[in-house]
Amino acid sequence: MSIILGIESSCDDTSASVIEDGYLLSNVIANQTVHEAYGGVVPELASRAHQQNIVPVVDKAIKDAGIKKSDISAIAFTRGPGLLGSLLVGTSFSKGFALANNIPLVEVNHLQGHILSHFVKEKGKENIVPKFPFLSLLVSGGHTQIVVVRDYFDMEIIGQTIDDAAGEAYDKCAKVMGLGYPGGPIVDRLAKLGNPDAFVFPKPRVKGVSFSFSGLKTAFLYLLRDEIKKNPNFISENKEDLSASLQKTIVDILLGKLRKAVKQTGITEVTIGGGVAANSELRERLVIYAEKYRWTAHIPERKFTTDNAAMIAITGYFKFLKKDFANQNITPQARMKF
Ligand code: KG4
Ligand code: ZN
Repeated sequence: MSIILGIESSCDDTSASVIEDGYLLSNVIANQTVHEAYGGVVPELASRAHQQNIVPVVDKAIKDAGIKKSDISAIAFTRGPGLLGSLLVGTSFSKGFALANNIPLVEVNHLQGHILSHFVKEKGKENIVPKFPFLSLLVSGGHTQIVVVRDYFDMEIIGQTIDDAAGEAYDKCAKVMGLGYPGGPIVDRLAKLGNPDAFVFPKPRVKGVSFSFSGLKTAFLYLLRDEIKKNPNFISENKEDLSASLQKTIVDILLGKLRKAVKQTGITEVTIGGGVAANSELRERLVIYAEKYRWTAHIPERKFTTDNAAMIAITGYFKFLKKDFANQNITPQARMKF
């Protein structure tokens, strides 16, 4: 029996999770609301909030799991990529915890965590996991990429964004509409009330399975600037249509590239992961694409899409089984490859 405690602190969510032999026992997330007033994550405030939250969050995760500290086989933590100050909190905590409890320390790449989140099993659920090889459309606040996953730790990025990530496009466009942070979930909600064909935005012309979102962001900004000159209430009168049209464009781009990746690789087992994978339209339209093109699509529960420690614990579990342990001298990395 292996019990893994996972720790996630790469951005603005402090999270701890306990997994027993691949089954979720607990997953506690403390969201940092302090950033809302600034319209984005303020790194120094994030580090401080992690420092405040980490011990109570871990304590709750252990209690919710119904285990004792001494039952834990290993501690897995996010080493990167992410905000360095935030990562330092989780890394230092995990080192201390490993040392104090005389258990192995396991480092996890946050992006591999998002990709492998599909392997978290829950008692009493169907738990259909992807079969190798599969494609992962990884869409978060900092990353937009398509990855071929041949095995748990055999992953190859075949395409990624050349500028902004999809999540950034959501957040920046929401910010210029004055909608608050993070913008993705707000735009998602408003889009349901709007007309997706009200405004037409240009699609990027980037080769293969590469992505680009900065042109869309600029086009959105220029549209607002021009229309506000004519009507100062343009945003408040059109925020639903603007959100629906923006979202349609983003989802068109994402699914169009995923289709290209399927054609290029011949792999029809398809997964989505990362915060933007919580998006209703992406989820709904992926189901339609899967039926139309005969893909097997795996759509994670929303709680496993945005940052969470369950994905870190499951990735740590697979590394633990391989006895792939980290040393006490390990340091976090803001930028990190697979
Ligand atoms: O994976 P994540 O929680 O953190 C990173 O690793 O970046 O992703 C955060 C991103 C943010 O840009 C947020 O706006 C976006 O995910 N997001 C959404 C939705 N929920 C979160 N975007 C669109 N629709 C949503 N429902
Ligand atoms: Zn993430």
